[in-house]
Amino acid sequence: MNQINQTQKIRHFPVLLKEFLSFFENVSINSFFDGTLGAAGHAEALLEAHDEIEIFIGCDQDKEALNIASDCLKRYMNKVSLFHENYKNIDKILNEMNIKTVDGVFLDLGVSSMQLDVAERGFSFRFDAPLDMRMNKDEPLSAKDIVNEYSEIELEKIFKEYGEEHRAKKAAKQIVLKRKKKPIITTFDLIEVLEPVLGKRRRIHPVTKIFQALRICVNDELNVLKQGLENAIGRLSHGGIIGVISFHSLEDRIVKHTFKENKTLQVLTKKPIQSGYEEKNPRARSAKMRFAKKI
Ligand SMILES: C[S@@+](CC[C@H](N)C(=O)[O-])C[C@H]1O[C@@H](n2cnc3c(N)ncnc32)[C@H](O)[C@@H]1O
Repeated sequence: MNQINQTQKIRHFPVLLKEFLSFFENVSINSFFDGTLGAAGHAEALLEAHDEIEIFIGCDQDKEALNIASDCLKRYMNKVSLFHENYKNIDKILNEMNIKTVDGVFLDLGVSSMQLDVAERGFSFRFDAPLDMRMNKDEPLSAKDIVNEYSEIELEKIFKEYGEEHRAKKAAKQIVLKRKKKPIITTFDLIEVLEPVLGKRRRIHPVTKIFQALRICVNDELNVLKQGLENAIGRLSHGGIIGVISFHSLEDRIVKHTFKENKTLQVLTKKPIQSGYEEKNPRARSAKMRFAKKI
């Protein structure tokens, strides 16, 4: 699929878009940091609604996402600066731009539909592809390395902590047993190895939590979130607004507690905003959005 078709296909349904925009209604924004730009759905809508924005910083650790975003944001390029970076490095990015603070920060966490739909990225159990799962292809660690090299105890811990998988011990044991005979290279290799302990395909695929755990581990997602949130809050201007959309309870817990415990923030969402039935993006079903304001 060429990039334009791919762009058209993936960028129609940013999650919780109306709700996201409502937090910036009647707010004047001069500078904004979108740390997970993706296909720039939220970014484009915000830029459209706020023509007072002068500096829009878009960051994504996936080069392919940035290419698509830059295409989508063409008409705003005089205001937009794009960075191939991890959002946890917001300090480095703002220092490079000579900017002290921003009026808004947004993180729409996890993988994009595009990343899930491109088989060779190895994120999805729907396709047979190399076990990769790196959002940033410049990083050395892939899911294949973890599955083939980590000890049984480490694997169990990852499946338990990052996947909340109650059969973590069995799954780790089975992987270590099977990889002695033959390395586990692809997504379907892993599914085949785990089938005897997790069972055959059901409505929710039995490897869902194992795949989630591996992805979180490969991209160090929870540590990045903790560190990235602290750094981003530190860079919010007085009255500035931060919003985060998360997709599983491990992320949401971190966002909730960080917002609540940070004395410089006023929480704007006592309960997380969740998606209604009208959301067309299937990722939206598990989305939770929280907002806070710097005081
Ligand atoms: C759910 S998508 C964002 C979708 C976007 N809001 C839109 O409307 O198109 C998440 C994006 O964040 C990126 N991402 C995830 N973790 C990141 C991190 N730590 N640093 C930078 N980008 C990250 C992913 O590569 C992916 O492109």
